[in-house]
Amino acid sequence: MKFEVWSEEEIGKKIGEEIIELIHRKENAVLGLATGSSPTCVYRYLTEAYRERRVSFAKVTTFNLDEYIGLSPDHPQSYRSFMNRHLFDCVDIDLKNTHLPSIRDGEDAYLHYDKRIEEAGNIDYQILGIGSNGHIAFNEPGTPFDSLTHIVYLKESTISDNARFFASRDEVPVSAVSMGLSSILKAKKIVLIALGKKKKEAIRRLYEDDPSVDLPASALKYHKDVTIYCDPDAASGILSKVKDYARV
Ligand code: F6R
Repeated sequence: MKFEVWSEEEIGKKIGEEIIELIHRKENAVLGLATGSSPTCVYRYLTEAYRERRVSFAKVTTFNLDEYIGLSPDHPQSYRSFMNRHLFDCVDIDLKNTHLPSIRDGEDAYLHYDKRIEEAGNIDYQILGIGSNGHIAFNEPGTPFDSLTHIVYLKESTISDNARFFASRDEVPVSAVSMGLSSILKAKKIVLIALGKKKKEAIRRLYEDDPSVDLPASALKYHKDVTIYCDPDAASGILSKVKDYARV
């Protein structure tokens, strides 16, 4: 596991350039995508590169990490509409090739998500964010490392955190579908983005501690190609210990 420290803009550029290079090498690349504030620097960079005609997403397939249960895809807070807004509607991707896990196609449709990823040839490049408690996707502390795509019942604290995006607390979904930790570890290459002071403790634990279900992101230590991109605030608990990092 490699740790790098850059500004948010530089992180967007570095990951964006890696994705562009991957698509140039393999036009039908399979990308694993996240929602939330962390990856938007990458989506901005890719959208700009598309406008400059430096990359085409026409043959690319994507799989998102997670989606709420109970919100229609056109609800402004659904992860589908987030992805459309921040990336899919801004580039030439075929929406048919963009996937989010869902139970809409039948109660057990999410069970087929891992199979669909496998049939697409597995994820070439997976982008992750991290929660302040170390969650990745909706895999909260305690989630087994061998978990596949599954239904998650959101914790009261998560529902309260998310309430700010909705008109009232009652509108916040209480469950979601999420790729599991084992699903994520099948990606060929993984990058995780951590921005801001709120992520400092999770990054310190990820750097210092042995893998444990108490810190879901620590499952990534079992993968051979993972880079953790932090901004200086997120890295502030490890800066003195990381030898191999770029100062911004
Ligand atoms: C989003 C996801 C979440 C976020 C995490 C960090 O698809 O899977 O695990 O990556 O909650 O969110 P931000 O980036 O908003 O701090």
